[in-house]
Amino acid sequence: MSIEEKVSQFTIGFDHRDKEKLHQMWDKIFSTQQWSEGIYTKEFESLWSEWNDEDSVAFSSWAGGAMAVLNYIDVKNETVLCPSNTFMATPLSVINAGGHVEFVDSNREDLCMSFEDFRVKAEKHSPKAVWVVHIGGHISFDIEKISSYCKENKIWLIEDCAHAHGAEWNGKKPGTWGDAGVYSMYATKTISTGEGGILVSKHKELLDYCYKFRNYGKFEYDVEGLNYRMSEFTAALGVVQTRRMSEIVDWKNSYAENFLDSKHSNRIIFPDGMKSGYYKYIVFDKLEKSTGKVYDESCHKIMGHEIDLPNTDWIVSNHWCVPLYYHPELEVKK
Ligand SMILES: Cc1ncc(COP(=O)(O)O)c(C=O)c1O
Repeated sequence: MSIEEKVSQFTIGFDHRDKEKLHQMWDKIFSTQQWSEGIYTKEFESLWSEWNDEDSVAFSSWAGGAMAVLNYIDVKNETVLCPSNTFMATPLSVINAGGHVEFVDSNREDLCMSFEDFRVKAEKHSPKAVWVVHIGGHISFDIEKISSYCKENKIWLIEDCAHAHGAEWNGKKPGTWGDAGVYSMYATKTISTGEGGILVSKHKELLDYCYKFRNYGKFEYDVEGLNYRMSEFTAALGVVQTRRMSEIVDWKNSYAENFLDSKHSNRIIFPDGMKSGYYKYIVFDKLEKSTGKVYDESCHKIMGHEIDLPNTDWIVSNHWCVPLYYHPELEVKK
């Protein structure tokens, strides 16, 4: 079987060399009998912060972090802008927080929110917040412009980093342009804990709110959160996975550079200094062997919003993903 065929076989982004360490950590959880709110949640958060350059709060899913930040901002009866080219999780988080979603078009070049359409929609709808989604594992090409506009116009910027583990742009990490960034650790993500999520932010007050939000507001009950805690078994997975992250992402980058780029010139081309985490390898040619689309349908269509988002429609019809699954046993450097 060729390397390309092997890399096309689905694997969870996990290195089996980490099993022994993980089993030792799980044994420790059994012996200390602390199955939740223990040392591994703290260690996962601190390792993530070391990489992400901001403080972190672990949750049981992306949704926990998303609901925490939207409730903190208080988007009830307010408009939140959102790209239509995303997973339904993004607009649904706004609706569940009592907000109103207005969709924004994306760029064909990066599949992420278009600054031009964002500015038009921001002027039209006076939003309280905006979700930017870093689709596919690279960073939104317009993030710098959107971030400056948000600062000037006092709009909260939240980054949906569900795909963006291991990405950076000139050393700057996802989630650090905005007021908060939220990652998903769902089973198929580049870095996974099966289920899980982590929020990063520079705002101390928001971080304090998140610790309470994930734990029913304990102990003052001035925050109306629910249970979004991560179990210690899951957090131990987060610890080994975060330690392995640079290796996983470097492996994916080497494979992309040495095996895919020469075959797929009609692909997303990253600007100078940008490193993708390669959750997806996205091209604009129909492929025989593909893992399909990032999203087959846009959110504005699913939700029946009668607006015209031509680039989003174009993206849905014209992109495909080349399989790129982590197989550490294969040598992909040249
Ligand atoms: C863009 C995006 N946002 C949010 C989520 C939701 O993440 P979770 O399943 O951890 O709640 C996903 C999950 O696939 C996603 O792709």
